[in-house]
Amino acid sequence: MTLSLPGKSIFFGNIKGGVGKSTLCMFLYEILREKLSHYKTHLIDTDPQMTASTVLRGMMPAEEIRQLPTGDHFDGVGISSLDGLIKNTLIDENNIIFIDSGAGRLGSMMQVVRLTDVIIVPTSLSWTDLRPTLEFIHNIDEHKQDYGITNPHIVMVPNRISPNQRDYSILNDFVKDINVIIAPPISDYAIVRNKSHGYKGISDIKGSKFHAELDRLASFLISHAISGELDRIYGT
Ligand SMILES: Nc1ncnc2c1ncn2[C@@H]1O[C@H](COP(=O)(O)OP(=O)(O)OP(=O)(O)O)[C@@H](O)[C@H]1O
Ligand SMILES: [Mg+2]
Repeated sequence: MTLSLPGKSIFFGNIKGGVGKSTLCMFLYEILREKLSHYKTHLIDTDPQMTASTVLRGMMPAEEIRQLPTGDHFDGVGISSLDGLIKNTLIDENNIIFIDSGAGRLGSMMQVVRLTDVIIVPTSLSWTDLRPTLEFIHNIDEHKQDYGITNPHIVMVPNRISPNQRDYSILNDFVKDINVIIAPPISDYAIVRNKSHGYKGISDIKGSKFHAELDRLASFLISHAISGELDRIYGT
């Protein structure tokens, strides 16, 4: 039942908007592109707003960045071309795809989500973000159980954590019945907010605490999600 493709795909998703999907997608794309130099990286932007791809297009080789907006009313076409593009790209084990997505389209995206290896789900710890996020990951987990599939592995990324909110262990209680991994957190940084309209790339934040946290997150993703560690644990 599990569709296993040799390449790797990482989906940035959450039913809740504004949680940091595009921000983390852009920065992690750049960092992981450097760290995983034996892979050929690709970014597919499915968000009709096309934030991440528009920004990264100015900085990366054109063939790495693709725009395939999948809005609600052209789901059929959008989703099947996306599905084809992902499958074709992942036939090559040296390819790794990052997919940014817009908020709020779980039903139509599930077909794509289940093709992916890892879903990165950013959330703040505010209840407004956390409640829909928990519902979202619960739905994916249920879908995986219903279909007897182990992909995608769900990785929750606590984002915009305030310096005095260091204890995010409450998350563990909320997710104890769900197969989810909680990644190292990313703090709330003015440097990120201020640069939202002028992303200057990873070189611009090197040496900052923000960069150190992103780097820690990237290494965590490599060892816990990309390197196949989770596949070994869950037996795919
Ligand atoms: N760690 C952070 N610290 C400070 N600000 C952040 C952080 N992460 C994201 N933001 C800010 O939060 C806002 C929303 O982030 P972003 O656009 O990445 O969210 P999104 O999930 O992609 O939203 P959408 O659902 O609209 O696509 C942006 O202004 C961004 O700069
Ligand atoms: Mg976005």
